[in-house]
Amino acid sequence: MWILLFAVITIHGVHTRTVYEFVGSTVTFKCPYVQEDFNKVVWKGPFGVYAHSNHRNTHLPSDLYNRLFIISNSSVGRFDLKLVNLQYSDKGQYNCSVTNNGTKKSKTFHLSLPVLLNSSKPSYYRYLKLDPSSKKLIVGHMNYASIVDILDKPRFPVNSISIQFPSEANKLSYCTLSKEKVPYCQNHIRVLEFRTDDTVILCGTNADSPKGFELNITDNSHISLGSVPCANDPFDNFTTTYIRDHIQYGKGIMYYGATLHTEATIFRPMYDSAGRVSEYQKGVISSNWMKDPQFVGSFPLKETVLFFFRETATEVDPSENKIYSRVAKICKSDIGGNSILRNKWTSYQKARLQCFTEGSSPVYFDDIQDIVEKDGIFYSLYTTRIKSPISVICAFNTSDIEAVFNGPFKTQVTQNSLWTEAKNIPQPRPGMCINNSMAQSEDVLNFIANHPLMHKSVQPLYGKPIFVLYDHLQKLYKNTQEYDGKCVLCRLR
Ligand SMILES: *[C@@H]1O[C@H](CO)[C@@H](O)[C@H](O)[C@H]1NC(C)=O
Ligand SMILES: *[C@@H]1O[C@H](CO)[C@@H](O)[C@H](O)[C@H]1NC(C)=O
Ligand SMILES: *[C@@H]1O[C@H](CO)[C@@H](O)[C@H](O)[C@H]1NC(C)=O
Ligand SMILES: *[C@@H]1O[C@H](CO)[C@@H](O)[C@H](O)[C@H]1NC(C)=O
Ligand SMILES: *[C@@H]1O[C@H](CO)[C@@H](O)[C@H](O)[C@H]1NC(C)=O
Ligand SMILES: *[C@@H]1O[C@H](CO)[C@@H](O)[C@H](O)[C@H]1NC(C)=O
Ligand SMILES: *[C@@H]1O[C@H](CO)[C@@H](O)[C@H](O)[C@H]1NC(C)=O
Ligand SMILES: *[C@@H]1O[C@H](CO)[C@@H](O)[C@H](O)[C@H]1NC(C)=O
Repeated sequence: MWILLFAVITIHGVHTRTVYEFVGSTVTFKCPYVQEDFNKVVWKGPFGVYAHSNHRNTHLPSDLYNRLFIISNSSVGRFDLKLVNLQYSDKGQYNCSVTNNGTKKSKTFHLSLPVLLNSSKPSYYRYLKLDPSSKKLIVGHMNYASIVDILDKPRFPVNSISIQFPSEANKLSYCTLSKEKVPYCQNHIRVLEFRTDDTVILCGTNADSPKGFELNITDNSHISLGSVPCANDPFDNFTTTYIRDHIQYGKGIMYYGATLHTEATIFRPMYDSAGRVSEYQKGVISSNWMKDPQFVGSFPLKETVLFFFRETATEVDPSENKIYSRVAKICKSDIGGNSILRNKWTSYQKARLQCFTEGSSPVYFDDIQDIVEKDGIFYSLYTTRIKSPISVICAFNTSDIEAVFNGPFKTQVTQNSLWTEAKNIPQPRPGMCINNSMAQSEDVLNFIANHPLMHKSVQPLYGKPIFVLYDHLQKLYKNTQEYDGKCVLCRLR
């Protein structure tokens, strides 16, 4: 599990330095002594000797060995120890010792990996959101939401308060008839979306009967929002994005990429004249639109909303059982069409996201795990465990995604033929964001229903991953300036 903490560095005494870091981050210990002649700098850590000068100890466990680097400047005899993607097992004493002409000098570092919101049981921390002013971090976990003060400078220990959101008793007892009490019948907070600068919409699984809350992070008061569509299952992969400036009945609109009553789809509520949710605007006409999707993220982009997911690819031989990563778009103005696309998206388009290594036999990464956006670039994380775990990050430019959606469509002319570029595109071009989606012709609607997939794939920036790690990363965390240098993304840039 990916647990976050803030880093502060304090110095205890003269010879020992305590370094507070967080799981997943990188630390570099700088040896203050230099090696003269051929004497060695020896780095030791919790698993014994880590390195002699710039030679890593090959007997270390491979997980540790792959995360360990020596930053050397041999011209001045300096050998620093760097550890990436820190794990709890890394905590403890580290020291470098240098023997020059019979005199040994050593420096000890104490690496501390504090636990945020310490709990003796698994707490399933998974959802994080920074408030718009970046002064508070909201954490969703099992039966609790926590508000962590981060103020201007992260400090340790952090001030945090946890607000309990237990499952309703009747739902809990019903749930336990068929499921394990822990974790399935607990209330896992799965949605955290800011409705205003000081209120957050939360949705919890509530023992298989999802329920919403609105939490005021100024005074920590909360009200119930009743049943709302969010995941029943604590482990479903789904996404939401709340668009504050897309106002209907005085409130913004929540977009979901989720499974709603066994139908995996992209949806948003539709309101009746009294402002109550009456129906859902949604899609999925056929498995070509979406097949067993696992959603990882969603973002507003101009007049559209983008959804990122992985799914079973239907444009390749089904016997290959291929998973591809996708970006899909719908228009905010889309209120559905007539006939076949009544209450369905008439602006749905999807494209394959490609992430692969360079060279004559590239390795493709198709299992998207997470995605964050920063300055118009999407950073997506892929993990594969073919032989040993590899995690890579590919970056995609928003303008390249838009270009693919504005390019040719893919088609399959007969049931068994190969997929090719579609000819004879009806006019006006299907998939555009228009004011009155109900006014589209039958031709255009039929085309959309049958051609959700774009012909071209979105290519990664620089034609290769921007980051490769021989380990298993699960989540990306987009940091703010306060944390610059303290997250994977910041370090990449
Ligand atoms: C090594 O250290 C010297 C002296 O401090 C410095 O000039 C040089 O740039 C360093 N080299 C590297 C690769 O850091
Ligand atoms: C150096 O680190 C090792 C491993 O953590 C520890 O066993 C040893 O006592 C340390 N030595 C000094 C002088 O701190
Ligand atoms: C090492 O120490 C000896 C005796 O203290 C001294 O004579 C010699 O010059 C030293 N060598 C270096 C390289 O400092
Ligand atoms: C968590 O809290 C318990 C007591 O509540 C304490 O014994 C334990 O050391 C703490 N763990 C960490 C990593 O802080
Ligand atoms: C949140 O609580 C603060 C303090 O009680 C209050 O001033 C503010 O209006 C509340 N926000 C909303 C949206 O109700
Ligand atoms: C959600 O995704 C994770 C990996 O990203 C996977 O291990 C898990 O099985 C998925 N959940 C479901 C319900 O399929
Ligand atoms: C992304 O695309 C825009 C528009 O084409 C371009 O100006 C920008 O430089 C690109 N960004 C990167 C990082 O390549
Ligand atoms: C769509 O509606 C908006 C606001 O009503 C208007 O400004 C815009 O010109 C319209 N666009 C088209 C293509 O009709």
